[in-house]
This record gives sequence, C-alpha cells and structure tokens, in this order.
Amino acid sequence: MSRRKQIYEGKAKVLFEGSEPGTIIQYFKDDATAFNNQKKGVITGKGVLNNRISEYLMTKLNDMGISTHFIKRLNMREQLVRKVEIIPLEVVVRNTVAGSLAERLGLKEGYNLPRSIIEFFYKSDELNDPLVTEEHITAFDWASAQEMDELVSMTLRINDFLSGLFFGVGIKLIDFKLEYGRVFVDDQFKVILADEISPDSCRLWDLNTNEKLDKDRFRRDLGSAEEAYQEVARRLGVLPENTNN
Ligand code: TMP
Ligand code: ASP
Repeated sequence: MSRRKQIYEGKAKVLFEGSEPGTIIQYFKDDATAFNNQKKGVITGKGVLNNRISEYLMTKLNDMGISTHFIKRLNMREQLVRKVEIIPLEVVVRNTVAGSLAERLGLKEGYNLPRSIIEFFYKSDELNDPLVTEEHITAFDWASAQEMDELVSMTLRINDFLSGLFFGVGIKLIDFKLEYGRVFVDDQFKVILADEISPDSCRLWDLNTNEKLDKDRFRRDLGSAEEAYQEVARRLGVLPENTNN
C-alpha cells in the first residue's frame, strides 16, 4: 500500500485521503462487528465483495440520477469517493418487519409492512445509535428541514429501485441502512448518498426460501456468512474470481 494519510478507521472500512482534493479512498476490511462492537469477527473475502456490490449498486443509482459519493473502484478492496460532510444519521428503511423493529415492538419477523417505514438513528457509538425523530434532528441541527426533505425523497426512490433490482435476482429487500453527506456545489450545500450498500447494511432474504443472505448470518451465528455474501455478488453478476486479495 502506498504511503498516504489515513483519515479514519471504522468497524468495516478505513478511509484514506484521495490523490485529488475533495476525494477519499474507502478501503473495505473483512472485519465484522455487531451489537455496537460487542461481537467481533472476520468474514473472509467480505471486503472484496462489499467493494464490488456497493460499486454496482451506487453506479446504478448514479445512472438513474441519484447523486452518490461513488467515483470509481480502484482495486479489489478500494474505491474512490467524494469527500462529504457526513450527516450523523443512520437512515433505515423497512419493507418487512425484522431486527430491532421486531424487538422494539414485540413483532414477529417476516410481516410485510403495508407501507415502507423510514427510521432515523443518531450516529453515536457511546449512546448506542438511539432512535430519533425528525424533530430531534432539526432541533439539534444534525440536518436542516430542507435536507431532511431531500434525504427522505432520495431514500424512497432508492428503496423502490433497490427493491426491484433485488427482486429481479430472487432476493427480497427486507430493510437497509443508508448514510448521507453534504457537499458544497454551485454556492450551496447538496445532499448526496455516502457510505456503502452491501449485505453488511441490508437484510436480504432469498425470495423462495427466506434464507438470510446478509450480515444476520454473522450476527446470529447462522454460519456460511462468506457464502451468503458470495451468493449476493453472484446473483448481481459481480462475483470476482478470487476474493482473498
Ligand atoms: P436493525 O433492525 O438492527 O435496526 O437494522 C436495520 C438495518 O440496518 C439492517 O439492514 C442492518 C442495518 N444496520 C447497519 O447497517 N448498521 C447498524 O449499525 C445497524 C444497527 C443496522
Ligand atoms: N455494525 C454495527 C456494530 O458494529 C451493528 C450491526 O450491524 O449489527 O455494532
């Protein structure tokens, strides 16, 4: 790896300064964590697969006019992205009840919601990413009301698009998490999609068998996590020949 400045190390990615101003290199690790870092492990080859899967999905979103931070994939584990000021929210979309929604409200997993739900979590490891409402978000200036409007309408479009895309390869998009950032263009701030979209940040169930093809295989010790990520990449047509690099 060439000498370059590390900006940040997260649980699943490392960020380096990019060669051009206003760019960042995202390096995808195989490290997996769950439950706010209480559970730690490695899913071999995950970084390579998430790099490809996120590249594929972000490119499609860019093509349909949704601005994302993605610029280009650099190699097996790295992609060049635009530098953004991260909005400190995890924006979760739910189409089917699962995970923390099931727990919080005592619901059975697998219930198809009559309409999709968007939830916001304030990004704070110390506070364990608490659920917040738009009123908290605007009151504490984490995002403006206008940014929230932009972000919600982008999120709904992304959900429609990704649901259809995954459906086409026999996968049900149960829920997923997005992160947004702001960039300064033409004298104003604009909201764009950041972070990644991968089996780390989505719940993906096989359409016919309901088999889990996502990070729940790691969170819940179901085994074959690596194979599940590979299966998602294979169905999307982006499975590389070798994932060990
Ligand atoms: P949850 O049911 O645990 O709230 O998760 C909802 C979705 O968000 C699920 O697809 C996994 C994703 N997610 C992340 O990407 N990062 C996180 O830290 C959490 C808690 C969930
Ligand atoms: N990635 C998060 C963590 O490290 C949680 C999760 O995805 O379950 O805690």
